[in-house]
Amino acid sequence: MSDLVVFNIGSLVTNDPDRDGLLGIVEKAAVAIVGEAIAWVGPEENLPDEFSDSRGLDAGGAAVLPGFVDPHTHLVFAGDRSDEFAGRLRGRSYEEILAAGGGILSTVEATRAASEEELFEEAAGRAWRMLSTGTTTVEVKSGYGLDVETEEKMLRVAGRIGEFLPIDVIPTFLGAHVFPVEYRSDRDAYIDLVTGPMLDACAPLATFCDVFCDDAAFTVDEARRILEAARQHGLALRVHADQLGRVGAAALAADLHAASADHLDHVTDHDLEAMRRAGTVAVLLPAVSFSMRLPYPDGRRIWDSGVTVALATDCNPGTAYVESMPFVIALASLNMGLEPEEALWAATAGAAGSLGLADRGRIVPGALGDLVILDAPTYLHIPYRPDGGLVAAVVKRGTIV
Ligand code: NIG
Ligand code: FE
Repeated sequence: MSDLVVFNIGSLVTNDPDRDGLLGIVEKAAVAIVGEAIAWVGPEENLPDEFSDSRGLDAGGAAVLPGFVDPHTHLVFAGDRSDEFAGRLRGRSYEEILAAGGGILSTVEATRAASEEELFEEAAGRAWRMLSTGTTTVEVKSGYGLDVETEEKMLRVAGRIGEFLPIDVIPTFLGAHVFPVEYRSDRDAYIDLVTGPMLDACAPLATFCDVFCDDAAFTVDEARRILEAARQHGLALRVHADQLGRVGAAALAADLHAASADHLDHVTDHDLEAMRRAGTVAVLLPAVSFSMRLPYPDGRRIWDSGVTVALATDCNPGTAYVESMPFVIALASLNMGLEPEEALWAATAGAAGSLGLADRGRIVPGALGDLVILDAPTYLHIPYRPDGGLVAAVVKRGTIV
């Protein structure tokens, strides 16, 4: 592993709380990386001599940011749902499609039928595209298997993505995504399966457990049973919360001190206060509102409540086939009432926080050498030029990828 100095940085976003402003920007900066970790950050004129022999990467006066952390994706799936998308454009609702056995359930069918190799090939393609838009850490959920064998298969694929590609994968078990067709008339039996054999098989392959707790999916009581069992298996918790209606899922997440509550379209101020006290991070997914043509969650109100805010793509074949964090930052800035710097912070430091990762999302000594070099003078170009193409180079764990 060679050492690397990124120099001639016009504007460096550090997210360092010891520097000025939310983003801790350093002008005319340099970053020195030794091995996988950042060793030094500051104005280039102060770069210590000890780094003079390191390999150099000229940022060309452009902006440099922490690598994006995407803390909510359903990256592993098979099949194609563009027909469902077209149906929604003609007025069919997501809930109607799901109730008719389509939607998530059609992806379940395709994912069960796919070989592990096919799933890997498809997911690796998505992960490469994410990397090319600056994502250096990605959370990946299971949840399109809904049987022991396929949930395990999905998590093995997620693990292999992280092993074979220069991107860190944080795997999440989502056996409680929806009820599979074969258990629709016996919900308790499915929960027994999830909390029994499925968790036994999947917990060793995952860091988190997530539950879709909403009108069309699991009730608050069902979600609590599953999340408590997952905690017994050593998993940390996340919740798909109050997306379709206000069922009390965000309150449940806070009550269980979950790492995150995600979606939050129908969250109340009371729920937000509980989340703030519990340290549960709000993961907002504006690409879903965009793709579903739904109102956006009120990012301004959520940020001002004092909860930590993160942004994610929710990359999935149904509600948001979106891979780019810069696009998500643009949507959040343009449509959710977040300032561009808040959106950028949420896509880096906030997102890392939602995954419990203290070693990334910031460009500070000791953090991983995960950087994005933009082809633009400031981070403001991300929402200003929302159709992408702004990422000139990505450094992952100190290696240019
Ligand atoms: O996060 N809300 C539930 N799950 C996904 C959608 C999955 C799908 O439609 O395939 C989401 O939006
Ligand atoms: Fe999701």
